[in-house]
Amino acid sequence: MCGIVGYIGKKEKKTFLLNGLKELEYRGYDSAGIAVLHQNEINYFKAAGKLENLVNKTKDFSSNGFGLGIAHTRWATHGKPTEINAHPHWGAFSLVIHNGIIENYMEIKKELQEDGVEFVSQTDTEIIVHLFEKFIALDFEPHVAFEKTIQSLHGAYAILLISKVAPDTIFFAKNAVPLILGRNSESELFFGSSDAPLIGFAQEVSYLEDGTYGWASEKEIALFHHDEKIKPNFKPLNSSKIYAQKDGYRFFMEKEIYEQSSVVSETLMGRIKDDVVFLEELKDYDFNTIDEIKICACGTSYHAALTASYLIERLAKIRCSVEIASEFRYKEPLLDTKTLFLVISQSGETADTLEALKMAKKAGLKTLSVCNVDNSSIVRVSDATILTRAGIEKGVASTKAFATQVLTLWLLALYVAKAKNTLEEAHYEAEIKALRAIPTVLKVDERVHEKLHRLSKRYLHGHGFFFIGRDIFFPLALEGALKLKEISYLHAEGYPSGEMKHGPIALADSNLFTIALMPRTLLYEKTKSNVEELSARDATILAISPQEFELADDFIKTKVYTHPMCEFFEMMVITQLLALEVSIRLGNDVDMPRNLAKSVTVE
Ligand code: M6R
Repeated sequence: MCGIVGYIGKKEKKTFLLNGLKELEYRGYDSAGIAVLHQNEINYFKAAGKLENLVNKTKDFSSNGFGLGIAHTRWATHGKPTEINAHPHWGAFSLVIHNGIIENYMEIKKELQEDGVEFVSQTDTEIIVHLFEKFIALDFEPHVAFEKTIQSLHGAYAILLISKVAPDTIFFAKNAVPLILGRNSESELFFGSSDAPLIGFAQEVSYLEDGTYGWASEKEIALFHHDEKIKPNFKPLNSSKIYAQKDGYRFFMEKEIYEQSSVVSETLMGRIKDDVVFLEELKDYDFNTIDEIKICACGTSYHAALTASYLIERLAKIRCSVEIASEFRYKEPLLDTKTLFLVISQSGETADTLEALKMAKKAGLKTLSVCNVDNSSIVRVSDATILTRAGIEKGVASTKAFATQVLTLWLLALYVAKAKNTLEEAHYEAEIKALRAIPTVLKVDERVHEKLHRLSKRYLHGHGFFFIGRDIFFPLALEGALKLKEISYLHAEGYPSGEMKHGPIALADSNLFTIALMPRTLLYEKTKSNVEELSARDATILAISPQEFELADDFIKTKVYTHPMCEFFEMMVITQLLALEVSIRLGNDVDMPRNLAKSVTVE
């Protein structure tokens, strides 16, 4: 994902900007650039590939004395990862950097071209600088020209623009993509896509709201929300890197649960066009020649795979099988070249998954990976990769990686459904509508979190937990149980609700805790009967459902949705928070549970 850094002040700008980009490297990128406006002169440098290339290009450049600087790492969406497409993009006297996607850029580009503007890049970003300069040419004041530019854009953006017409000012705008403004007592101002580049420099930061824009100079910060002038809400920025990286949360896992809502917006970005799922990564795949999709993964990624198998068969009507990578490797599997082999991995380095992928490749299967880490081993070996764009996940217990994996796999199922024309139009539209709702569904409801905190004290003992659910809520039950056992060290199992009576119900008594996932939109009555069977045997029931359930000992009421995936994601957050709260009460190291590693590179 792209990264943005900006600076206004007297210090050496290049150093701050390049170090800032380094801090944002984790977001992933394929080119980078910086621009400095100093004594009414603009210098800019761009390079494809790693930051080192940009560092080499700028080695003889320095910029002491008052000035402005903007810097960017680009993760290509429109146009190839070339130097020309790298940011900043320039007009005649201004430069811009942008993170996000301008949905109406084609329209604007056409109008500008009719006015005689020549474009050098293939990006959507370039229109911003030309539009700004067009308004300047029409004699608007720079502030008004910027305001008019922003009002013309539809889409997601974090933008920084500098121009010789206002040599002491950075113009900025933010909508649906993070942008942070920082300041210190030396009148320096800073911008960043996250806190990371600002730590140690800014004393206070303001996390800009969606729909805000403005301009900043040493003399003033003018901030607007839509058209109304507002005051930036500055908060102190802790100078400890670790603390600030946690954004004030107690643990990385907690932060990662809370950021799922914004992270999945990045997963979706540019992947739904005109209400159709668009996955550029799959353009060379012909799904009409594929008979089966076989998915291989480990741990949480395996649970995402199981969820995907329901979605792929239901939506795309392709047979889908799922295997645990460590089992697959040694079972002498029968592989068919009409099978697409899909691996899922957060780290891209899990040894068993990687080896399974190599086996499938050797057997001549077309391969695909869903992965969070670009350039990882799995990405390099697979024929193509759909990146989940979760950003660095620090908590060993995977949360946002799982959410983005499931969302990516749902996109994949819908992409294949379209390619094979397996869904009625109305059904497809309902899926797209639900997909678009997920960022909102994932917003953590603080009251629910508080309730889980209170309830958690009753769940610190007992002889075991059963998480139960049906259909896609069965893999979610497995994932809920894995989360709990990883960080609480309590025994927990995930089970299909209907399977309890085939053995595990023998364990039922008041010290058996059942976490019942009871969605309204999928098999509610059937799940309810299974939970009643457990309750009749005195099991303690924590029911999670939008429907009141009178046999529940504890109850978390969820929202009423019409799509099962919305219920899925809301219940996912609840199971994550439950595990977190139990673990905190037990005094465990939430982020680094005993015996576990984030990346398992041994078999
Ligand atoms: O990086 P991967 O997704 O390939 O890792 C697979 C598992 O090791 C991982 O999901 C593990 O189960 C997590 N710690 C679960 O929270």
